[in-house]
Amino acid sequence: MRASSISYPVAILAVLVGMAWGIMMAATHDHAAMPAHAHLNLLGWVSLFLFGLFYEAHPVIDKARLARAQVFVWIIGTVIMTIGVALIHTGSPASGEPLAAIGSIIVFCAMLLFSWIVMRR
Ligand code: HEM
Repeated sequence: MRASSISYPVAILAVLVGMAWGIMMAATHDHAAMPAHAHLNLLGWVSLFLFGLFYEAHPVIDKARLARAQVFVWIIGTVIMTIGVALIHTGSPASGEPLAAIGSIIVFCAMLLFSWIVMRR
């Protein structure tokens, strides 16, 4: 399986959930979870879709196990971080903070890996 064929559908799923979340925030006039909505959209939609574009433009890298691992780690980190940030801003900071911390370190590691993949091509 190619890395781009994982990142595109997951990015689409993220933006559909993120937009529905935005509509819910707007409809209820409760913007408390706004930072989590923003992170889901920017990490889960924008960044993941950009990874897909890069990998699709580099077919040899797209087929590499390392690229799939990078996308997979990014998705895991985004989910953990989004849940953590949402908990922090909706009244459960004690459970949210460790998740946000772990998630942010995971996405940072995935970005380091992506940087290395881009620079060595
Ligand atoms: C149906 C689509 C969407 C709706 C209804 C929506 C709704 C909202 C709402 C209600 C807020 C809170 C604003 C505030 O409290 O000041 C917000 C913030 C935000 N949204 Fe969305 N959103 C949508 C899609 C997106 C998408 C696709 C992205 C990114 C690609 C995005 C990124 C952001 C960001 C970065 C913020 C924080 C803005 C700030 O710091 O002032 N949103 N959105």
